Amino acid sequence: MAYTLVILSALLATSLANSIQFKDCGSAGAKVQSVDVGGCTTEPCHLVHGKNATMVVNFTASEDVTHPKNSLYGIIAGVPVKFPSNADCCTGKNLVCPIKSGTSSQYSIAIYVSPEYPKISVLVKLAVLDDNDKDFLCIVFPATITDS
Ligand SMILES: *[C@@H]1O[C@H](CO)[C@@H](O)[C@H](O)[C@H]1NC(C)=O
Ligand SMILES: *[C@@H]1O[C@H](CO)[C@@H](O)[C@H](O)[C@H]1NC(C)=O
Repeated sequence: MAYTLVILSALLATSLANSIQFKDCGSAGAKVQSVDVGGCTTEPCHLVHGKNATMVVNFTASEDVTHPKNSLYGIIAGVPVKFPSNADCCTGKNLVCPIKSGTSSQYSIAIYVSPEYPKISVLVKLAVLDDNDKDFLCIVFPATITDS
């Protein structure tokens, strides 16, 4: 019984801290450790119509940033399309600003998947820009927009 519980909680812990496979697209000021997309365990991750997709990026900074800015694109058939999102990274995104070099942080962003978006495959490009508008952090992962 106790043994089963240990296994169950180990499984649960694994599923809670699941990182998807992602590509770094030129993070100049951070080392990205993990990216969690709302419990997604198999790529492409599903972005479900009418729901919020929450992305959590764990990273360690190697640069100080006073005003980090969010930059989010969906790359559809090779064409980058800007995703409407609040540019400010210092409120509601779990970040402590300013970002200090050498510290580890968790960046959390939720996007609303409008039912009007077409059901297509998309490469999500999630970046945080530094004070010079350069990619402080940049990751890309494949997703698909679906009804479920
Ligand atoms: C991200 O960091 C948090 C806090 O340190 C940790 O609880 C979580 O498991 C990490 N996520 C992943 C996917 O490793
Ligand atoms: C999505 O997130 C926004 C902002 O946090 C919230 O107002 C809204 O109710 C959420 N929508 C869903 C479907 O969870």
